[in-house]
Amino acid sequence: MAVVPDVGGKNMQTVIFDAYGTLFDWSGVAIAAQQTSATPELAQDIAQQWRKLHLELAWQSTLMERYQDFDRLAAQSLDIVLRQTLLPSDQQARLRESLLQAAMELAVYPDVIPTLSDLTARTAILSNGTLHALQKLADRAGILFSFDYILSVDPVRSYKPSRKAYAFAMGRLGAEKADITFVSSNAWDVAGAKAFGFRTCWCNREEKPFEALPYHPDITISDLRQLVEHV
Ligand code: LAC
Repeated sequence: MAVVPDVGGKNMQTVIFDAYGTLFDWSGVAIAAQQTSATPELAQDIAQQWRKLHLELAWQSTLMERYQDFDRLAAQSLDIVLRQTLLPSDQQARLRESLLQAAMELAVYPDVIPTLSDLTARTAILSNGTLHALQKLADRAGILFSFDYILSVDPVRSYKPSRKAYAFAMGRLGAEKADITFVSSNAWDVAGAKAFGFRTCWCNREEKPFEALPYHPDITISDLRQLVEHV
C-alpha cells in the first residue's frame, strides 16, 4: 500500500509496534511450563532465562553476521536453558514441546485490542520474530487485519536494535522519521528506535526502571490505551 498523504498534504502518522512483550504476553510461557510439571519458581525462571538467551543469541548472530531466523534461535536457546535445569531428559523433552507451542500461542495484553480500535493512524508491527510466527499470533488473537503492515526483520537479516532493522521498516512504510511513533515495552528496543531517530513510546506496564542505553523514550505510558492521546 503506497503512502497516501492526508487532506492537509502532511504525511500520515504511523504507529509501529514491537510484538513480543508489547502486544503479545510472554507470561503464557511460564504458565505452560508450570502446567508441564515445573514448579512455579522453576517455570518463571525457565521463561525468563529463555527470553533473555533468545535475544542474546539474536544479537550475537547479527554481530557475527551469521544470521539465523528467530524461530531457529528460539529452539536453540530453549535447548540450552532446559539443559541447565538438569531435569530428567524426558521432562526436558516435554517442556520443550510445550514451551515452543506456548510461544506460538501467546495471548495479547488486555489493553491491545481497545487501543488498536481507537487509533486513527496507520499501524504496523516491526518484530524480530518471523513473519509466519507473527501472522499466526496476530490471527489467533484476532488482530491480523488491525495492521496495515506486519514486518519481520528477516529480509534485512539484522535484529533490532540494529539501525538496519528500523531503517527497513521506515523504507517499507515509505514514511519519514518525523511521522513515525515507535511503541515497545522492551527498553532496549525503545533505546534502539530512539537512537535511530524515531519518536518513541515506552509501554512500561510493570513500571520497571529503564535499563538500557540512555536513549530515553519521548513518551512513557503504563497502559497501551494511554497511547491514543499522544498520536
Ligand atoms: C520483538 C521482540 C523480540 O521484536 O522485541 O517482537
